[in-house]
Amino acid sequence: MTSRTRQSTPRYSLRTANPAKSRAEAVVVGVTQGAKGPELAPGADEVKDAFGRRLRGLLASLGVTGKAGEVTRIPAADTLSSPLLVLVGLGKDTSPAGVRRAAGAAARAVPNATSVALALPADTPELVRAVTEGHLLGGYTFTTYKKGDDTRPSEVVVLTPGARRKEVVTAFEEAQVVAAAVAATRDWINTAPGDLTPPRFADEVLAAAGEVAAVSATVYDEQQLAELGCGGILAVGKGSAAAPRLVELVYAPHDAVAHIALVGKGITFDSGGLTLKPGSSMTTMKSDMSGAAAVVQATLAIARLGLPVKVSAFAPMAENMVSGTSLKPGDVVVHYGGITTEAQNMDAEGRLVLADALVRATEVEPDAIVDVATLTGAMVVALGDKVTGVMGSPGVVEQILAAAETAGEESWHMPIPEVMEERIKSSKIADLAQVDWIRWGGGLYAAAYLREFTAGLPWAHLDIAGPSFNSGGPYGHITPGGTGTAVATLVDYARSLAE
Ligand code: BES
Ligand code: MN
Ligand code: ZN
Repeated sequence: MTSRTRQSTPRYSLRTANPAKSRAEAVVVGVTQGAKGPELAPGADEVKDAFGRRLRGLLASLGVTGKAGEVTRIPAADTLSSPLLVLVGLGKDTSPAGVRRAAGAAARAVPNATSVALALPADTPELVRAVTEGHLLGGYTFTTYKKGDDTRPSEVVVLTPGARRKEVVTAFEEAQVVAAAVAATRDWINTAPGDLTPPRFADEVLAAAGEVAAVSATVYDEQQLAELGCGGILAVGKGSAAAPRLVELVYAPHDAVAHIALVGKGITFDSGGLTLKPGSSMTTMKSDMSGAAAVVQATLAIARLGLPVKVSAFAPMAENMVSGTSLKPGDVVVHYGGITTEAQNMDAEGRLVLADALVRATEVEPDAIVDVATLTGAMVVALGDKVTGVMGSPGVVEQILAAAETAGEESWHMPIPEVMEERIKSSKIADLAQVDWIRWGGGLYAAAYLREFTAGLPWAHLDIAGPSFNSGGPYGHITPGGTGTAVATLVDYARSLAE
């Protein structure tokens, strides 16, 4: 499936060149909202000079304001070497995050050009990275089931004054690795749940890992999970006709300066189980494996980049379904390692599969554990659908938030209140209560529950229930469907440990 889903990615190159003299079919420049109206952004100087005094009037008559995401096309054959000038709004934000969004909007602005030159703000490695990632991801389309959607240019030139600087070239190359990992994550999320059952997801991961020599992969099937005693993964998976899996990856470079364990929720479809979701809440639940997809692709990207950080990744995969063999309210789950949970809500399945995988993660004795999960609707209520909630040990949380900032993925620190300690221990018959009857703070309860399986190791939990899937239209570098959120943050986290 991997090769079938992959669209033809344009050839990207880096150049120090004059955008006014570029022969590309379209030249893209940024526009900012200046104090006295719209202004061409850094990177567009020669274009500005070529238009000279005509520019101000032209922008005014076209109604250009420079607001973020605004796209204006101007026929330019008599002024530039290129026939088409594309203006993309940056708002007031010329930071890497703003430039990444603008480059994403630009990628969808010229659907028919075969070659494009990007003359956006790009005079630092961070900005070159933002232009490259933004353009690659903003132009992402999912073509597995619907052909003819791929209208990408065949050639994209990123213009920067630093094209010969080593740090700039490196940032440009690394951006392409990260963007490819994010796109591959989106492909998995967007794949129909009937085509990405746990066994097939595991096969996909094996195939993807097989392309990266430095990564080794192990898949545990339902029998091996039973031998291991992974009661949580088995409990959630047992109502489905498709058996559960656990996939583990290891990237162990000889020069590793740190060791991280990544754990991702891989529910290939979440019906809610016997605690059935209403139909309207089920429509996007093929995305409930976004965490697993993200940790797998982040691990592969870290290996491709050759970062000196050992990564052990754990992806528990199950389909949460309704049948005569489904887990029932009142059932007690014995997790890998022996902790028991009284299950009462079959729609709180994520924590059950993560529990086993977290204990597995503690056994490799990492310096830190980071889990990524579409875990709770409560986190979406708290933070909306574009922000990741980050909970856990202060040190790891701080490093993750810094990485998320660098990666351009909005994240926010949420607490694990003291009172949760008592609530998660309120079961009369098992060590832990999977849920209790208080609805408030459901995302924080879940974090407190997961913490029980981390053996006191430094740990962070990323609840991506909101930002993992975009049900609306495209914005910036985010396209409809799976977003691949957390991949870039995890890669930057590893990068920060390597420095
Ligand atoms: N996969 C859902 C969480 C979710 C909700 C993800 C919305 C993306 C968008 C999760 O398994 C779930 O159903 N959580 C329950 C937990 C509750 C029963 C304690 C929820 O949030 O309602
Ligand atoms: Mn659920
Ligand atoms: Zn779920």
